[in-house]
Amino acid sequence: MSNTVIVGTQWGDEGKGKVVDLLTAKADLVVRFQGGNNAGHTLVVEGRKFIFHLIPSGILYEDKRCLIGNGVVVNPEVLLEEMEELKMAGIGLDPDRLFLSDKAHIIMPYHTAIDLAREGAKGKGKLGTTGRGIGPCYEDKVARTGVRAIDLTEPDTLEEKIRTNLKEKNFYLTKFLDAEPLEPQPILDRYLQMADILEPYITDVSLKLDQALKEGKKILFEGAQGTHLDVDHGTYPFVTSSNPVAGQASAGAGIGPNLLHHILGVVKAYTTRVGAGPFLTELNDETGDYIQEHGKEFGATTGRRRRCGWLDLVVVGDSARLNGLNSLAITKLDVLGGLEKLRICVGYKLDGDRITQRPASLKKLAQCTPVYQDLPGWKEDISRARSIDELPSQARTYVETIEKITGIPVSIISVGPDREETIMLQDPFS
Ligand code: GDP
Ligand code: IMO
Ligand code: MG
Repeated sequence: MSNTVIVGTQWGDEGKGKVVDLLTAKADLVVRFQGGNNAGHTLVVEGRKFIFHLIPSGILYEDKRCLIGNGVVVNPEVLLEEMEELKMAGIGLDPDRLFLSDKAHIIMPYHTAIDLAREGAKGKGKLGTTGRGIGPCYEDKVARTGVRAIDLTEPDTLEEKIRTNLKEKNFYLTKFLDAEPLEPQPILDRYLQMADILEPYITDVSLKLDQALKEGKKILFEGAQGTHLDVDHGTYPFVTSSNPVAGQASAGAGIGPNLLHHILGVVKAYTTRVGAGPFLTELNDETGDYIQEHGKEFGATTGRRRRCGWLDLVVVGDSARLNGLNSLAITKLDVLGGLEKLRICVGYKLDGDRITQRPASLKKLAQCTPVYQDLPGWKEDISRARSIDELPSQARTYVETIEKITGIPVSIISVGPDREETIMLQDPFS
């Protein structure tokens, strides 16, 4: 049996939601272990589209359990909205199926206010965050002043934290960020109201996982964001505030690293990025526009137009090492159809030398230029292919080139957004 971790290998939006939904069929539990509602994971099942920001993408299978681990930052408003949407869609949800870690940190209105005011104040130098309060919430977690899910069940603890924190936050908001202060009482009232609904779902996720593992159950770990948005390993400071790398599945869910058996890296067949930050293979031309339009590259969370460019295997190669990838899921291969010539970045040139790792210095990175390998494109619509033999030879070559250069086998090829539009080469659970 293999517990599988699904991570993004680029800058997010690789199609992790689709892959998680697909593999949930073979798992018993699905766990989110980092990030928050900055994530937007899209699933399409029989033409019906769902976007999840917090609830694990396995939720559409009514016999599977979904857990939100301690490493996630949770906005209860968003969680309740998603729970309501699922109910409206006729998908059963109860405290035996959805679990929220008692140790997960809670996004408060002052986190969102600070995120937005800071980005506004930065003007041109802004990071382009999702404005969901993710960074400020993780800051409080590390500063040891955060509100945890368990605090929602203790009104006096919650009240004390809100009142104490707001003294400092309001000072920062008004005196430094020139923003409006927040009142404690309405926040307390609203959070207590939400706590009433959420309390039955709050539990020790680590214990639940341990129990399930002892019963021989299989666990799927759902990463959010992507390896190059990792606060340690990404294009810092143009990153998120958590660790999307596979190792975090252990700390962010509360299980030992020896229980992570298969690490599956999701690779979009080209590169996209939302928000600011370095992107060496970005295409600010007709080809970039073609990919953006053909791939419908708009953010699932903020609706922003995603920046598009060629596949960068320096980025994916770094991810292979940082995550210990066992296999790759290549997504959106269909989007490249219709382009006469394709390019894959296989290295960078820096000061006349060829390098195959991204330098830590953003100054050095800005001096790098991509080294491309050119490949022929294909004209056919490949979305009906269900086996590798049904792909045109150019598409097979494209996949084989990724496999050869990264040295990681491809287990899944996705040729369309729908669950069915998939070529399964190897089952990570087997
Ligand atoms: P995630 O954040 O990694 O889960 O990815 P998003 O959901 O933000 O973005 C991926 C988008 O691509 C979604 O709209 C998916 O429905 C869509 N998608 C996923 N796989 C494929 C595919 O193979 N082909 C096409 N055309 N679209 C896909
Ligand atoms: P999924 O899980 C793509 C980006 C933001 C911004 C940076 C910091 O759908 O792949 P934050 O709000 O996290 O402080 O913003 O990170 N970002 C994402 N980009 N996909 C995501 O999630 C992202 N989550 C955050 O655009 O550049
Ligand atoms: Mg997304």
